Amino acid sequence: MKLLRLLVLLLVLPAYAQQGGMWIPSLLKGMNEKEMKSLGMKMTAEDIYSVNHSSLKDAVPHFNGGCTSEVISSKGLLLTNHHCGFGEIQAHSTIDHDYLTDGFWAMTLEEELPNPDMEATFIIRIEDVTNKVLEGTQSITSEKERQKKIQDNIASLTRSLPKESWQENSIRTFYEGNQYMLFVTETYKDVRLVGAPPSSIGKFGSDTDNWVWPRHTGDFSLFRIYASKDNKPAEYSKDNIPYTPKHFFPVSIGGIRENDFTMVFGYPGRTTEYLPAVAVEQIVNVLNPAKIEVRDAALKVADGFMRKDNAIKIQYAAKYASIANYWKKWIGESQGLKKSNAVAIKKKFEKDFLAKAAKAGKQGEYGNLFTEFEKNYKEIEPYSLARDYFMEVALRNTELLTTGYRLYQLEQVYNARGEQSFTDRKANTIAALEGVFKDFNKDVDEKVFEQLIALYGTKSPKQFLPQEVIGADYKALTASVYSTSKLTSLNGVKELLEGDAKTVIAKLNADRGYQLIKAMADAYSTKVAPKYDEINLKIASLQRTYMKGILELSPKDARIFPDANSTLRVTYGKVNGYEPRDATYYEPVTYLDGVIEKYIPGDYEFDVPAKLIDLYNKKDYGPYGENGKMPVCFIGTNHTTGGNSGSPAIDARGNLIGLNFDRVWEGTMSDIYYDPSICRNIMVDMRYVLFIIDKYAGCKRLIDEMKIVDGKKNKRKK
Ligand code: ARG
Ligand code: GLU
Repeated sequence: MKLLRLLVLLLVLPAYAQQGGMWIPSLLKGMNEKEMKSLGMKMTAEDIYSVNHSSLKDAVPHFNGGCTSEVISSKGLLLTNHHCGFGEIQAHSTIDHDYLTDGFWAMTLEEELPNPDMEATFIIRIEDVTNKVLEGTQSITSEKERQKKIQDNIASLTRSLPKESWQENSIRTFYEGNQYMLFVTETYKDVRLVGAPPSSIGKFGSDTDNWVWPRHTGDFSLFRIYASKDNKPAEYSKDNIPYTPKHFFPVSIGGIRENDFTMVFGYPGRTTEYLPAVAVEQIVNVLNPAKIEVRDAALKVADGFMRKDNAIKIQYAAKYASIANYWKKWIGESQGLKKSNAVAIKKKFEKDFLAKAAKAGKQGEYGNLFTEFEKNYKEIEPYSLARDYFMEVALRNTELLTTGYRLYQLEQVYNARGEQSFTDRKANTIAALEGVFKDFNKDVDEKVFEQLIALYGTKSPKQFLPQEVIGADYKALTASVYSTSKLTSLNGVKELLEGDAKTVIAKLNADRGYQLIKAMADAYSTKVAPKYDEINLKIASLQRTYMKGILELSPKDARIFPDANSTLRVTYGKVNGYEPRDATYYEPVTYLDGVIEKYIPGDYEFDVPAKLIDLYNKKDYGPYGENGKMPVCFIGTNHTTGGNSGSPAIDARGNLIGLNFDRVWEGTMSDIYYDPSICRNIMVDMRYVLFIIDKYAGCKRLIDEMKIVDGKKNKRKK
C-alpha cells in the first residue's frame, strides 16, 4: 500500500510539483487546458467558460459578495457552505425556533424563507479592457495623477460599455495594475433559505477543528434563487418564481479516489503571492503577531460568556466565529511561512530576477526595485502597525468603539457637507445600528474593551496615540466609559441622535465613550492614515513594476497567475493526501466513523445529533455510502483562499463531487506562498451532503429535483 502510494506519487510528480494558481476562466485555452487534461480532465476550456453556449460558469454565482455558490437543479436550487449562510440562518433563529441548533428544512417551496439584502451574482461575460483603461496614462509621471486618470477611465467605461438594462458592468485590475478586465454580471436579489443542517453537523468541530485536517464538518446550506416571471433579476416578491439557470451541476455519487482530477471554481478574495521578501518578513515578525494578540484577548472574553449563557451564545456565535477564523489563520500562516522558508525562497527568486533583468538589459527599470521595497517597507512599518491596532481594537473587536466610530463619521459628514447629508446619513446609521444592537451585550463588550484598550495603549506605536490612553489605568478608564456612555444601548444612541446636527454633535461630544473614540480616530486620521497612504501608494507602484518585470522576464507559457481579487477563478489539482510532518501521512478522505470518534456528548463543538448516531449504528447510508462507510470530507491540491467557501469541486467531466470550505492548517500560508507539498483545500463530499438531506432530514423533494449521476461510470479505468 505504502509502496504503491510512493510509486503513484513519483509518477505524477512533474505535473504535481507545478500546481497552484487561480486562473481567469476566459483565458484557460493553451497552457492551462493542456495541464488540466494531463491531470485527467475530460472537458475543454470552452465547457468551463463560453460566451456563446451555456457553460459551467453559468452555474457559479458569487454568493452575497463574500462566498461562492453553485446551482444544482433546474429550479435554481443553490448550494453553499453552512458558514456562508450562517448569518441568514441565525437571523431566522430565536430561542424558540433555533435553526442554528436544530437545523432548518423547508418541506415545500412555500416554507422557503426570504432574506433581505441577499444576492447571487452571475458572470455573463469577461473581456480584456486594458488598453481602454490605460488610455491617456502613458505620459503621466505622478503616481497620484495616474491613478486618478485610471479611476476616471474606469468610471466612464463602466457607464458606457454595452450591457443589457438588468445587467451591471464592473472593471477590475489584475497583475497589480498591468491588466484590466470587464465583468458583465446579473444579480438576483430574491434568494431564500431552503435548508441547513444543525450546527452539530454544519459546524461540527467548530473552532477547534477550523483550518484543520482530518476534518468531519458537513459545512453546507441550501438556498434558492427566485426570479421575475420572465426569469430576470427582481427584488423580493411573493409572486417571484424559482429561477431557471442556463446551467446546473449534476451531482455525482460515483465517489472519489486519490489522484482523481479536481477543479474548484469560485471567487477567491485576496492573495499576495508576489510580495517581496521584506514584506513577508514584516507580516511574520510584526503585523501578524500584533493582530493575533488582540483577537486572542477578545476571543477569550467572549468564550467565557458564551459557555455560561445560552442567549449570549446565540448572539455572539457568528461574531465569534468570524473573529476566530482569521485569528487562527494568521497563526497557521506565520508558522507555515517559517516552516516552508518562504522568505529565503523569495530572496533567491529576487536574486534570479535581478540577474534576468540584467541579462535582458533592463537594469535601469528593475535594478533598484528591492532596495526601494526595503526602504519603503521599513518606513511604513510603524504606520502599518498603528493602522492594524486601530482597525482591530476600534473598528473590529470592541462594539462601543465601532458604534462610536459610525457617529464620528456622522460628525465628519456634517462638517464636510452640511445638514442635509447629515440627516440622510443619520437615518442610515440608525438602521445599521439596530442590527448591531440586536446581538450586543454590554457586559461582554465592557470586558473586551478593558483588555483591548490596554493592548492599544501599551503596544501600538506611542507617537500616534492620543495622550489619555498612554500608560493609563485601563480598569478605571473602562469603568468611566461604560458607566456613563450612551453608546451601550440602542435607546441611548437614539437619544444622542435626536435633534438637528448642532444639537446632536454637542450631545455626542459630551459623551465619554464618544470622546474617546473621537480622540483615537482623530489621531489615526491625522497622524497615521495620510502617511500610510502616501507610502502605500509608492509600494503599490513598485509592486506594479515588479509584476510587470515578472511577466516580461518569464517564458511565454510560464505559470504566472494574477493574485485573487474576488473575481471568478479556476483552480485545479488532484485528490491528494499529504505529510504534515515527519513520519505522518494524512489520508485524503474522512468518514463518518471519524465523527463518532470525535463525539463528545453535550459539547459545544463536538456534540452529534442522536439521529445521526442512529443512522451510523444502522449503517443506513442508502446509495451514498461506500463499502459500508459514509465518506464525509476530502482534500486536494486546489489553490483556494477566503471567498472560495462554497465553491463547487468538480470532477473530470463537470459533475459536482464536493463543496469547498476550508484549507489545511499547515498550508494556510498559501495566500502568500503556495507550497504544493503541504497546501490542500478541504471539501465536503457531495455524498455526505445528499445523505444528510435525504436520510437525516428526510427532505426528499430536494434530492428529486437534482440530477444525480454515478460519476464512476464515467471514470477512467485504472
Ligand atoms: N476557515 C473557513 C473559512 O475561512 C471556515 C470558517 C467558518 N468556520 C468557523 N469555525 N469559524 O472561512
Ligand atoms: N473558509 C474560507 C471562506 O470562507 C475558505 C477557505 C479558505 O480560506 O481557503 O472562504
